Formats: sequence, structure tokens, C-alpha cells
Amino acid sequence: MFENDFLEQRKRLGLTEKDIERRVQAAAFGEKAKDWTHRWLAVESYGQVGLGLFNLPPMIESTKGGDILVDVDGKEYVDLLAGFSVSTLGECNEEITKVIQQQAGKLVHYFDFPHPERTKLAEKLVRISPIKGGKARVAFGVTGSDAVELAMRAARYYTGKPFILTAYGDYHGVTYSTMALTGKGGMWPYFYPIPPMDTAVGYFPFPYAYQCPFGRAPEGKAEDEWAIERLEHYFEYYFQSKESPYREVGGNITSVAAFIVEPFQSSAGYIIPSPGYLRLLRRLADKYGILLIVDEIQSGLGRTGKLWATDWEEVQVDMLLTSKALGGGLPLSAVVAKAEILESWGPGAHVSTQAGNVLACAAGNKVLDIVSQDSFLATVRERGEYFVHALEELQTRHHLIGHINARGIYIGLELVRDRETREPASEEAAFIRDECVREGMVFEKGGYFHNRFQLIPPLTIRKSTIDRAIEIFDRAFTVAEKHFGAS
Ligand SMILES: Cc1ncc(COP(=O)(O)O)c(C=O)c1O
Repeated sequence: MFENDFLEQRKRLGLTEKDIERRVQAAAFGEKAKDWTHRWLAVESYGQVGLGLFNLPPMIESTKGGDILVDVDGKEYVDLLAGFSVSTLGECNEEITKVIQQQAGKLVHYFDFPHPERTKLAEKLVRISPIKGGKARVAFGVTGSDAVELAMRAARYYTGKPFILTAYGDYHGVTYSTMALTGKGGMWPYFYPIPPMDTAVGYFPFPYAYQCPFGRAPEGKAEDEWAIERLEHYFEYYFQSKESPYREVGGNITSVAAFIVEPFQSSAGYIIPSPGYLRLLRRLADKYGILLIVDEIQSGLGRTGKLWATDWEEVQVDMLLTSKALGGGLPLSAVVAKAEILESWGPGAHVSTQAGNVLACAAGNKVLDIVSQDSFLATVRERGEYFVHALEELQTRHHLIGHINARGIYIGLELVRDRETREPASEEAAFIRDECVREGMVFEKGGYFHNRFQLIPPLTIRKSTIDRAIEIFDRAFTVAEKHFGAS
């Protein structure tokens, strides 16, 4: 019976053998790429995320200049994805590669033992993270989800309170605990028959002014101001209401340990919240005795033109989580927390065989040296402005581009059918994404309505590569406008 159910599902998802073959034949791949794709599809899980994000992901083999990907046939792709924010200093960055080569000749990894590279990295993270009170400690992990799980556990252990609040649409990983915080509805059924069991998690709307969850601002009210005001009202209502599990008693919310939030919502579509979001959470956290934990796994390390996205609001936090770009391409994550939080538990409270890998820490030291320089961050902001200016020019010619929001090289592009009603152009977005892949460019498409392009090239992207991206977009939008019959 289950076999038949799954066959039906494969038909619905276009994953029968025939569908897959059709995908391979339709792909703008050379012969070698088609061959390797067949071999890949014969042995890897159908749950592989590339099959959800693209018709077929390209078979990348190397890089040209760090911001162009080259497949097994030599076809080039402009990289607006940076390995999902991992390769933010460009693929095969020379300085990082040199450090990895040197360290690999000395020691690669030794369990969870201390090591000078690891200690140096912790010292740097403590120095550069906006931790409230200034005194901080670090716990290392391997993946982003590791860091989020550790933060959930530390927050609960330290405060003795169960609930964690997060925003709808946030992404914090898809392990059994972190999935409770992640708003990816599409993944939820794959936990069948035991859903992610962390029930002490609550959600609130994210202040996404362009498609505001509280509705459009009334006449005369700025959209951003409206979104923040409504959100504050929402919290006050839930914290005070007598039905609320988060009720205030004697000036304290008795059951909420922490807010765990993305400062900017990345996997949900690179959405920058209305200014004042983190400041509001900080205010509420201070007022009600709640920890503020920011997940900077995707938004941090220079991506937004400041070291941390949190820095845009000049807010200090109780914990900061980092990963992705941290290891310079090698798997590494870290929780940086107010010292007393990580001093609250005893030895062995957390362990992971691969945590704090020495090779990754050595690369991480070089990454931090580069991304924390003011001159580097200034270049990111300048390069981002160059990109956004070119996108704004495209917007004057392509009516589908409804909204562009950006900080540094953290760019979200929202496609709409009508700029007045803001009706999401989801089908058009999928069409344009496929057209771009065909032309030789990769990026992720996401968004609450599947209508946002997430443009996150390496921070070292060259201007000539940005120009090339704009030309590809221009052609792809033109083809889509003809296809969908728009003027
Ligand atoms: C903001 C954020 N948090 C957590 C994670 C989970 O990281 P990982 O996939 O390394 O477990 C991600 C991954 O995309 C992320 O973007």
C-alpha cells in the first residue's frame, strides 16, 4: 500500500523514471553533464534539495575567478548562490586555500580537543560579537543546526523556562528539534509518522512590510512603521492575555526562555524586516526577562555590508549563532553567548566528534581576519550598491520586478503581476529562474509566495560578473514577458 502511495507522490512531484529522463533530456547540459547526472540520480536520495530548487542542478566541477562556476563540460554559470552562503569569499579563495594546505600538513582534526587555531578563533568570535555585557564564551559545532540546537538547549537550561519564540518564515535547520523553529511547510510531511516533537515553541508574524501580515498600512502611515507598531501590539496582547501560555507574572514572562530569530529572513526569500525589529525584540526581552538569540548563520560575516546583520540595529544580544561562511568552505559552526549562560552547565553537557575541526578553525581564522576589516565591508557595500543600481534600472523596463530590498550583497528581488495589488508572480518566477539556468546563471528562488529571487553571490564578485548577471536577467525577463503575454 505504501509503495503505491509513494509512486503517486513521485508522479505528482515529477520524479518517475520517465519524468527524470525528460528533465535530463530537456536540460541545457552537455553530454558529460547528462552522463554524470544519470549516474548521480541512480544512486542519491530523491530527497536531495537540488531536485526541489532546480529542474536539475548543474554538475559543477570547478571555478573561474571565484564567482563563475564551471561544469564538467566547461559550461559556465554566474554564481549568485555562493554554495548557499558558504563560499562568500569566492570558490577556492587563494588566501583560504593556502591556510588549508598549510594546516593539512600539520593536523587535520583530533576529536573535541583544544587546539591553538580553535582557541584563536574563539577569542576572535568573543571580540567581534555584539554580546550584551561584553563577556562571552563560545561553543563549537559542525553544522548550523548544531548551533541552533545547542542554543535552544542552553537557553532552556540557563533560564529554566521551556518556551522559545520565533517568527513565522524563519529557517533554523531541519533536524528534529530545529525543525520546530523552521517555517518550511513543504518539509513537514517528510517527518511522518512522528512529527518534530518540540512543542514548546511559539510563533509570531515577521514584519515584512511589502506583503505585511497585518495588512496594508492605513492612509498616511509608513508601511515599515505600521508593521513594527502592529507587531508590538501583537506581543503585548499575547503576553498580557489570560489565555496566553506566555503570561506575565510579577514582571516576568514565566514560560519563555528566548526569542530565537533571524535578523533578516534568508531562506524565506532574503527579506529585510522593517527597521526597528530587533530593537523591539530587545526591548521586550529586557522588559519580560527573555533571552534574545540571533541566528546569523546566513546573514552574518559581512554579507549585509556590516559584520553582522544585527549591527544594522545596533542591538546587543544574549547569543549569536554563526556557521556557513565561517569555515571558509569547511563545515563549522559556533554559538557565541553571554559567558554566564555557557558557564551554567558542566563538562560533557555537549559533545560532537567533529566539532571545532582544526582545519576548519584555521580557515575560520583567516575568514574572520578578512571579513572584519572595515575596508572589506566598505567594498561589500559599494559592490552591493552597484548591483542594486543595475537591478533598479532593469526594474524600469521589466514590470514584473515589484520590489528590491538589499543591504550589502544581501539582495531580495520580488516578482509581482501588478505593482499596485502586489499579486505574486510565482509561475513567472519559476520560468525566469529556469531560463537563467539555461543561459548559465544560478540562484535560489524562494519567498512566502515562491516569487522572490535570492541574490547572494560571493562577496568578492567582480563588477564584470555583475554586468553579466544583469544581461542574463534582462534576456530572461524579456522571454518571460513574451511567454506570459505581458506588455
Ligand atoms: C539562518 C539559518 N539557520 C540555520 C541553518 C541550518 O544550517 P545547516 O543546514 O548547516 O544545518 C540555515 C541553513 O540554511 C540557515 O540559513
